[in-house]
Amino acid sequence: MIGKNILPKGLFGRALLILVLPTVLIQMVMAYIFFSRHWDNVTRYMSHALSGEMVFLTSQLRTMPPEYHTRMIADFEMATGIAVFREPANAFSGSFASQDFPEFRARLASLLHAPFTVRRISDDALIEVRIAFDDYTLRLLVTVKRLESRTTIIYLSWMMGVSVLFLIIAVLFLRNQIRPINRLAEAADDFGRGMDSPDFRPGGAREVRKAARAFIVMKERIFRQVRTRTEMLASISHDLRTPLTRMKLQLAMLADSDAARELKDDVQQMEHMIQEYLDFVRGEGGEEASQTALDALLADVVEDYRRLKADVRLAARAPVQAAIKVSAFRRMLHNVIDNALRYGKRCEVSLVKSVNYCEILVDDEGEGIPQEKREEVFRPFSRLDASRNLKSAGVGLGLTIARDIAQAHGGSITLDTSPKAGLRVRIRLPL
Ligand SMILES: Nc1ncnc2c1ncn2[C@@H]1O[C@H](COP(=O)(O)OP(=O)(O)O)[C@@H](O)[C@H]1O
Ligand SMILES: [Mg+2]
Repeated sequence: MIGKNILPKGLFGRALLILVLPTVLIQMVMAYIFFSRHWDNVTRYMSHALSGEMVFLTSQLRTMPPEYHTRMIADFEMATGIAVFREPANAFSGSFASQDFPEFRARLASLLHAPFTVRRISDDALIEVRIAFDDYTLRLLVTVKRLESRTTIIYLSWMMGVSVLFLIIAVLFLRNQIRPINRLAEAADDFGRGMDSPDFRPGGAREVRKAARAFIVMKERIFRQVRTRTEMLASISHDLRTPLTRMKLQLAMLADSDAARELKDDVQQMEHMIQEYLDFVRGEGGEEASQTALDALLADVVEDYRRLKADVRLAARAPVQAAIKVSAFRRMLHNVIDNALRYGKRCEVSLVKSVNYCEILVDDEGEGIPQEKREEVFRPFSRLDASRNLKSAGVGLGLTIARDIAQAHGGSITLDTSPKAGLRVRIRLPL
């Protein structure tokens, strides 16, 4: 439940997490274990040493005759680096209750047998210890370094610094590993939209290169198959045109009879079919996409139909700009609207815009297509029973072409039930 949204989605983020998290955790645990022990020991040794020196001085001062004191203090200062001052007895006040250096304090308390105070002074650079004697106060100053080790901070900052440095290097290297995967994904995506990506080269780690090479081989095989198929269909259609033209000429010279009229109709229908085959073969034919006002294009297409007295209406029209292969796009619209007029009655076209896509909806008031047949009609040459009896019907390539074109734009085309009871064709384009 948790995690699903928190965990990174990308390979980069995941790899980083898998590699970095354990490393950081191990470092933290190790540092903690090491320092909690090390730190305790160091503090104890330092407290013992410093308190020992101070206790030694006070016991010497107590037992030795006063004439030796000055000399003794001088020697002590020299040997230990602790500055010693003698101040009047009333300079002592045990009032500041600082909590610093508990270990050191405890040690002094158990050995000194005299009132004392400990505090930090001079911005924490020095420790001041005052010890009360009967006739004067001893004031001892020593650097804080005698009780506090700096190694923790230094070690930790080294650890952090080096970790960050290596992390940055790891991130850079990882980036370079992810890039070829992204490029492969983009090439596959382009291929899906019918665009070739000629400058795509396998790169990166061995596995990625292998996948990229497999992709290139697959792509070339598909291209080859498509080319063979379309070339065959194109040459058949093309070759059929010549005898058909001859037949038309001969029919024109025939006397006007019912038989001749029927033959003429058949020839015309064959011509129409061949035109459709050729359209299909041409596909969207490497046309370049250009930024186009989709709403204006749609209005234009609808206007063409109205001029031919077809019952087509433009219902809604959002302003949409998109990269479009204009003549292919027109062909798609014609195929869908032709269907609506042929198999339905009235046709209504609308263009609606959403956040990251737009939709062209083509509704009619015909019979519609039953749910289970809605995928079937997109297959080449597939027509439903009812349309086989219609003389004017096509060869079953219209929706196939329309889908090819929609997909060549990175979009999709699906069938639905229209609110007007007929069929709704939904063409969706990413923006
Ligand atoms: N608007 C529609 N209403 C009902 N049936 C339709 C509609 N559009 C298409 N069809 C069905 O889908 C089949 C395939 O359409 P299409 O690919 O355009 O081929 P064609 O129009 O050449 O028959 C048509 O034969 C028809 O049976
Ligand atoms: Mg059609």
